Amino acid sequence: MLALKVLVVGGGVAGPALAHWLSRIGANVTLTERSPQMRASGQQVDLRGQGVAMMKKMGIEAAVRAVSIHEPGTQLIDVNGRTKAFFPAAMGSTGKQSITSEYEIMRGDLVRILYGLTENRPNVRHLFNTTIERFTQDDENDPNGKVHVSFRDGRQEDFDLVVGADGTGSKTRAMMLSPDDPDPRRLRGGYIGYFSIPSQPGDSDRFTFCHLPGGRVARVIGTRKDVPDLTRVYMQMRGKDAVVDAASKAGDLAQLKNALADLYQDGGWECERFTNALRHAPEADDLYFTPFVEVQLPPGSWSKGRVVLIGDAAHSSTADGYGCTWGLVGPYILAGEIATLLKQKSSPTAAVVPGAKNYEERFRPVATATHGGSQVAESLFFPTSSVGIWMLHTVARMAAYWQLDQMGGLSEKTSKWQLPEYPELEREQGEA
Ligand SMILES: Cc1cc2nc3c(=O)[nH]c(=O)nc-3n(C[C@H](O)[C@H](O)[C@H](O)COP(=O)(O)OP(=O)(O)OC[C@H]3O[C@@H](n4cnc5c(N)ncnc54)[C@H](O)[C@@H]3O)c2cc1C
Ligand SMILES: *[C@@H]1O[C@H](CO)[C@@H](O)[C@H](O)[C@H]1NC(C)=O
Ligand SMILES: *[C@@H]1O[C@H](CO)[C@@H](O)[C@H](O)[C@H]1NC(C)=O
Repeated sequence: MLALKVLVVGGGVAGPALAHWLSRIGANVTLTERSPQMRASGQQVDLRGQGVAMMKKMGIEAAVRAVSIHEPGTQLIDVNGRTKAFFPAAMGSTGKQSITSEYEIMRGDLVRILYGLTENRPNVRHLFNTTIERFTQDDENDPNGKVHVSFRDGRQEDFDLVVGADGTGSKTRAMMLSPDDPDPRRLRGGYIGYFSIPSQPGDSDRFTFCHLPGGRVARVIGTRKDVPDLTRVYMQMRGKDAVVDAASKAGDLAQLKNALADLYQDGGWECERFTNALRHAPEADDLYFTPFVEVQLPPGSWSKGRVVLIGDAAHSSTADGYGCTWGLVGPYILAGEIATLLKQKSSPTAAVVPGAKNYEERFRPVATATHGGSQVAESLFFPTSSVGIWMLHTVARMAAYWQLDQMGGLSEKTSKWQLPEYPELEREQGEA
């Protein structure tokens, strides 16, 4: 049988993970990334629960361990810098989770490890600095049907399957949906921004959060530390702010830096030092900023014929801590469902179209479990009054004592959910 020809659009986390699984079943995979090179930026990400099991299945546990960050835990402090509650990192394989997971890794390191899986595979082609401009596809019942793709550089090629792994703002998704379908991105009313600054002696190696009273919106400032010379500063905001919105829309780095610095400058703790660095230190040019967004596609619309979405493109929930975990699990399920059908069906289309549907059916309830958040949790975690912050610290101290954080943010059903087994993926094609 002719190899399944697949185009994966987006070389972040989900894209290279899918390339890995599909290359194992002998597919001919093209992985395109819009950036001129691997986009190995970003701060700390974590692999939790099923993400840890997934990483082991992919055979990258040792590689991840070798670059993982040893964060002793998470603490809440007050505006005078005093620790109010401490949650030690989750350890061991009991499935219990904490705010700091056992596998904390820089996003760039994870992306590099995932590319490494297919770098030397003859059946995987990595294309940088290009993307797709448009596509059309044949009727989904046509057993020999293809997706006809035009690339930005003018090339045209046909594929049996096109996968959008191009993140929350996915262009592949926009092309797959009808022009009159609503934008599935929902703003959750808040922002997150992070950047690096030169470190100082005394900067904590714990993931440190400080809630700031007052302000136009609810403000949290945090720090993390993964290298000696730099401290990473996190700003989390709840609510809508016109100045921040305008700066974000303008797409001007200096304007955005100033808007965030103005908002935090007088917040207390080390806000003055952090905002000075944000305005003036070149280290802070790595500022990454995004509103809280959720991608909520209607059921049954993760795929259309031979075009399917994975990762943030399908189910993003910015900063809920599961982006990378679900970004690794989804590709495995898609590849597994297709591989299972490929064995039974006579044509690629006959496997790809229902395989994509099966993938959504199996994975959607898990991947969207944290969508919508919880109003109670939100008002508890983003207090703006001194009394509200005092209450949060009190509750957190009790929670730390009773280790309530280890129950994690997932419902019992989702945290108990087990990765499906796919014998077709266990065995390398060509192995006996
Ligand atoms: C630069 C960056 C920094 C991040 N930092 C963090 C972080 O610090 N902490 C955290 O928890 N999460 C972070 N995330 C999000 C996290 O990586 C994802 O939630 C998770 O890994 C799911 O991955 P994904 O592959 O679906 O999407 P992403 O990781 O967003 O990858 C999407 C990829 O597609 C590429 N792309 C976009 N559009 C196109 C196009 N039209 N054609 C071709 N390629 C395209 C992008 O350049 C990117 O490489 C970051 C994402 C990015 C892109
Ligand atoms: C990327 O592609 C564009 C044209 O599509 C070209 O002008 C540019 O030089 C390329 N950049 C790199 C780094 O190859
Ligand atoms: C995969 O497809 C590309 C593009 O059509 C082609 O050039 C290449 O020869 C194919 N590779 C294999 C291993 O079949």
